[in-house]
Amino acid sequence: MKIAIGADHGGFHLKEMVRSLVDELGHEVQDMGCYSTASVDYPDLAALVCEKVDAGTVDRGILICGTGLGMSMAANRYAHVRAALCHDHYTARMSREHNNANVLCMGERVIGHGVAEDIVRTWLAVEFSGGRHLGRIELYSKC
Ligand code: RB5
Repeated sequence: MKIAIGADHGGFHLKEMVRSLVDELGHEVQDMGCYSTASVDYPDLAALVCEKVDAGTVDRGILICGTGLGMSMAANRYAHVRAALCHDHYTARMSREHNNANVLCMGERVIGHGVAEDIVRTWLAVEFSGGRHLGRIELYSKC
């Protein structure tokens, strides 16, 4: 898959690990920044990733900030983005099975790198279940 990733200063270190992992897993990674721990505004990085997901020029996005909260709020302003803030294996799996999430958000100050690796591996591997869950997504997509 083509995957755009982005982080603010609060998620920079985890983003570096995630970029390597996603690359090792054989995906095409587009790193939209940030590129250091210098302070930046998370909505700007969310926009760089979500504009690509919204336009369909990448398949998925991954966004990381300190908590994952700001990134997930900003990302879900885009019409074709379904961003999920995941903190563990279960939320990562369910965000794919039931919600067909196309943007994964994580908080570097909330989870360790081991948990983040499990979340990313799970989120990239699990398929959407479809069926009744598709109908539910369509209900809010029309809002
Ligand atoms: C930056 O300090 C922090 O506010 C940001 O990374 C994120 O946690 C916002 O939701």
